[in-house]
Amino acid sequence: MDTRQLLEWSDKHLMTFAKRYPLALVRGDGVRVWDSDGKEYLDFTSGIAVTALGHSHPKVVGTMREQAATLLHVSNYFHIPQQIHLAKLLCDHSFADRVFFCNSGAEANESAIKLARKWAKEHGASDRGDIITMRGGFHGRTLATVTATAQEKYHHGFEPLPGGFKYVPFNDLRAVERAIDSHTAAVMVEPIQGEGGVNIPDDGYLPGLRKLCDEAGVLLVLDEIQTGMGRTGRLWGYEHSGIEPDIMTLAKALANGVPIGATLATESVASAFTPGTHGSTFGGNPFATAVGLTVFTTMMEERLPERAAATGRLLRGELEAVQKRHPKAATAVRGRGLLVGVDLVPPVADVIGACRERGLLLLSAGDNTLRLAPPLVVDEASVRRAVETIEQVLAGMAK
Ligand SMILES: Cc1ncc(COP(=O)(O)O)c(C=O)c1O
Repeated sequence: MDTRQLLEWSDKHLMTFAKRYPLALVRGDGVRVWDSDGKEYLDFTSGIAVTALGHSHPKVVGTMREQAATLLHVSNYFHIPQQIHLAKLLCDHSFADRVFFCNSGAEANESAIKLARKWAKEHGASDRGDIITMRGGFHGRTLATVTATAQEKYHHGFEPLPGGFKYVPFNDLRAVERAIDSHTAAVMVEPIQGEGGVNIPDDGYLPGLRKLCDEAGVLLVLDEIQTGMGRTGRLWGYEHSGIEPDIMTLAKALANGVPIGATLATESVASAFTPGTHGSTFGGNPFATAVGLTVFTTMMEERLPERAAATGRLLRGELEAVQKRHPKAATAVRGRGLLVGVDLVPPVADVIGACRERGLLLLSAGDNTLRLAPPLVVDEASVRRAVETIEQVLAGMAK
């Protein structure tokens, strides 16, 4: 179908919840995607940090074909071998003892909030339910998770919002210390704020939060929906900090694009969920968890977290050099692994648009930050090409 007609129908029939770029992507292979006019792009978005193994990875495609032809869905009234195996793998490679599977990041965070509240009530007073979250964070778009997202721009028009959330500045331990009281169930935080601008806290921040939570007997919930699954150069973002959470949420890269979410917890915390307390029709079905299993085993076999650490160093190094050459266009580069942000002077939307014209897809974050989140399999040549494109665009705009 003609692209113009497609975009016209999109305009007419889809709810306009997102500002879409004027193109339709129809095919992908590794780090590359093609639009409906046949134009090729380097994909440094990974569908917002999702397609860690790249597009159309042969092992992922093989599992999808096989599992779709064998058994797609059964419901959680039955034991699901793929779900059991994926849960075991996630637990074997993390702090966690048990997993709840769902279908998205927001849903994984909803489950974490419910679990933390239920645990807190069973291990304290019946009015312990508050969740402390960080300004600039992002936890999803459902009513509870958008309220957990301490950014008023996402709340506007959706009031009344659910109660039981308290906001403190990110990277400020004193503020958390002051906010914790007898009503607090949990502190919830991203190891690195992704949507908020690729904000990396000080080294002592997560250990400090762990200590404050332990002293007060409240839970530490890490939202690793963007930072998990190797993105930061370690399997989990928390591994950089030397501490472990009580609850961790995952989604995005867990099944490389097949919708999935997961809430992981220690034995003691997970025991707050008993039969009938929580659920999901689709969550953890044979299809999604079979793909998750293939993604996880491939990630470990191909040592993708280590690869992301090395390629991320190259990417940051190259971008830092660009920033030094164009200080009037770019003011800072930061990141960990393959989650990288560049603070810009020209409007980020203009830079993203100009890069797209030149065949490079990028994300934004925060107020005016360019966010790069390529597939973890990205090769050095593609990294250099992407950085060259960004430099050409910034040089053009600085004139
Ligand atoms: C840290 C974090 N938490 C939660 C979410 C929400 O995930 P989903 O869009 O799958 O509901 C996102 C999505 O960008 C995220 O980055």
